[in-house]
Amino acid sequence: MNKFTRIGFILAAAGSAVGLGNIWKFPYVTGEFGGGAFVIVYLLAIVFIGLGVFIAESLMGQHTESDVSSAFVKMSKSNNPNWKYAGFMILAGMLILSFYSVVLGWILNYVVASFSSLPTQSSVAGATFGALTKDVGTQIFYHTLIAGTVIFIVLKGIKEGIEKVNLILMPLLAVILFGLLLYAISLDSFSTAISFMFVADWSKIDEHALLAALGQAFFTLSLATGTMLTYSASLPKDANFVKTSFTVAFIDTMVAIISGLIIFTFLFEAGAPSAAGPGLVFISLPVIFSGWGLLGQIIAVSFFIALVFAGITSAVSMIEPALLFFTERFKMTRQKATILCGSIFYSFGIIALLSMSDAWGESLTFFGKNAFDWMDFISSSILMPLGAIVTCIFIGFFVDKNMLEEKFVKHTSLLVFKIWYTLVKYIIPFAVMLLFINKLGLI
Ligand code: PHE
Repeated sequence: MNKFTRIGFILAAAGSAVGLGNIWKFPYVTGEFGGGAFVIVYLLAIVFIGLGVFIAESLMGQHTESDVSSAFVKMSKSNNPNWKYAGFMILAGMLILSFYSVVLGWILNYVVASFSSLPTQSSVAGATFGALTKDVGTQIFYHTLIAGTVIFIVLKGIKEGIEKVNLILMPLLAVILFGLLLYAISLDSFSTAISFMFVADWSKIDEHALLAALGQAFFTLSLATGTMLTYSASLPKDANFVKTSFTVAFIDTMVAIISGLIIFTFLFEAGAPSAAGPGLVFISLPVIFSGWGLLGQIIAVSFFIALVFAGITSAVSMIEPALLFFTERFKMTRQKATILCGSIFYSFGIIALLSMSDAWGESLTFFGKNAFDWMDFISSSILMPLGAIVTCIFIGFFVDKNMLEEKFVKHTSLLVFKIWYTLVKYIIPFAVMLLFINKLGLI
């Protein structure tokens, strides 16, 4: 099998993790839950829950060098063939990709629009964004561009496609974010942003905040979709999977924190509210940028390009578990598998965007949720928590403990193994179960 280099793996896995989840979602969710306290809860969720599942997936991938479904069978104590059904996880990535490609299309549209002009008032910015989400033609155009790019990259394979793209886009993303951070540091409101993000106000932390932090930790680390397992199947055999997992989680967290600092500095500088919700990046920021003249326009273009880069490297990782599944289990060629999976997510993306339009909205709304929201709900609220629970219970009860221990002590201490094993076997499934039950209760 075509393997990553070690640095290629770290960049590709970090590329998968760092995405809209970090630059768009993390700041707006943090804003909604009042800042500092939420950041602390989120960091705890990353360290004690996300990282545990990340290491589990990485170990499974590296050990079996297989697709998700075969990996479960091969790792189970008696090679029980029924574990192949754990392969359901690949559906989550495909579903997320369907609407993620549409959202990336909006962002690409914002890159183009920022070149010409930016809205000066939030009412105009709100109306422009609202109109875009209902404009079928424009959305299909940009969704097609994004989907085409994703398909083009994955067709070339792990090394020539995914690794190469990450080797180029991740450093570029780092440069843009660093530039934006330097600019933010030069503004007076940077210190306000620091205290907003690091001084805890526990009054806004309720069970919703805890669950949002947990859900965000899973989403941002690309867990329970088979992505990290599948990428780790191409991790060199002698690489230290514990260390690479820590490195990727660290990079991902740093990018989320830095994005938060940049965005909150900009918001506070303009006196804009920090709890604007999902419209924060699409409505609040463009208005702020427009007040800064030419510099604002340059910042707007760079910011949205950074989002596109971050999103593309995540998008290619969402389809990979399905591709490896079809090429390994059904011996399809990579081309055939890509055409098949590409057509599926592209069509679902069209359904998602049509479901927001006036003409199709009603017929694509079921039980009060449109198709776009259903795809989000089924993937993030059902498939991902379920995937995480299955993975942890599998590792805790159906895999030979000695074998796991052996893998760990090759690279790290017995204590690290014990902590990880206890977390994965007892703590994480319990925490995720709570998330799952609560989310379902919200239907
Ligand atoms: N981690 C990505 C982000 O933060 C999203 C993602 C989810 C990628 C699941 C792959 C699998 O945007």
